[in-house]
Amino acid sequence: MTAELTVVPEFDLSTTYLGLQLRSPLVASSGPLTARIDSLLSLEQAGVAAVVLPSLFEEQIEHEDAQADRLADLHSDSNPEATGYFPDQADYESVADRYLRHLEEAKKALSIPVVASLNGETSGGWVRYARLLELAGADAIELNLYGLAADLDVTGRDVEDEQVELVALVKASLSIPLAVKIGPNYSALGNQATRFIDAGADGLVLFNRFYQPDIDPKTRKVAPALELSSSAELRLPLRWTAILSGRVEASLAVTTGVHTGADVARCLLAGADVAMMTSSLLVNGAGHVAAVERELVEWAAESGFESVAQLKGSVSQRNVADPSAFERANYMSTLIGFTNSFR
Ligand SMILES: Cc1cc2nc3c(=O)[nH]c(=O)nc-3n(C[C@H](O)[C@H](O)[C@H](O)COP(=O)(O)O)c2cc1C
Repeated sequence: MTAELTVVPEFDLSTTYLGLQLRSPLVASSGPLTARIDSLLSLEQAGVAAVVLPSLFEEQIEHEDAQADRLADLHSDSNPEATGYFPDQADYESVADRYLRHLEEAKKALSIPVVASLNGETSGGWVRYARLLELAGADAIELNLYGLAADLDVTGRDVEDEQVELVALVKASLSIPLAVKIGPNYSALGNQATRFIDAGADGLVLFNRFYQPDIDPKTRKVAPALELSSSAELRLPLRWTAILSGRVEASLAVTTGVHTGADVARCLLAGADVAMMTSSLLVNGAGHVAAVERELVEWAAESGFESVAQLKGSVSQRNVADPSAFERANYMSTLIGFTNSFR
């Protein structure tokens, strides 16, 4: 009699994000580790499926353009003798030039998809860089809408309309996919999400993490403060991913608070196509990607899932027995439950 072998199917990690076929849902989000070729290579070696480069900022481009113009004026105004004292425009490498060079080098060095990131709020000349990033080889563009509506005369609708216009403008110049990285602070996030998608966003990245300046009581100065995230911060993007999953025609990425394999499982269960990491990679190093993947695979084996595709969205709002758990009813029952635990 021959013993029957039980074949344990391998967990299929593959996923699709922005139409790109990825070997796994683990993506390195925009940050210091994606700013250097050596750390990009370490991330790829550790198994990351795609990388998002740091953002090229609207302010940087506008500032550099103004500087280049000033340089050109200096040349045209000065006599030929004096011209020799000024740097030759041909030698002048702007921040944007350096960015394009980094993107080209990253594309040459890596075999995984490279997403370039543009950060801005207003439509302007800088938007043409989206096309330049595409020409430099980007597989997709992430438009990072990081802004603060501090002008008291500007309404929420003004901000939202301007952002939607910007997405449409950027999309119109591209033939590669466009993801839009947004913050959570909209009055009606679900509706604004659909407006971004209607304007051409192929994916949404939830959520940007806003750094809050501190005040130093000793110096009485405003102090920049950057604290890295913890897994507790995952809940906000998780809830919105679960609400949007299966209801919008766009890829969904979670960023903020992804640190462990269990965190990635949470993102996928909520309906994300990919989970992005920065803080945990800064703390633990690029090699942490491999540990997170291992944890995810072990969890999947214990839970009986065979593929990322199978588990994606299985705990989204559309698929849970009690959809109100993601909404207001959850607030009430959480508070009552907490109060009762003290009786
Ligand atoms: C030092 C640092 C630099 C970052 N630079 C960028 C950036 O240039 N563009 C961007 O979209 N996000 C940037 N981020 C945000 C990350 O991409 C990510 O969305 C955020 O850190 C939340 O994810 P985490 O909890 O995994 O850290 C940066 C984060 C850190 C910590």
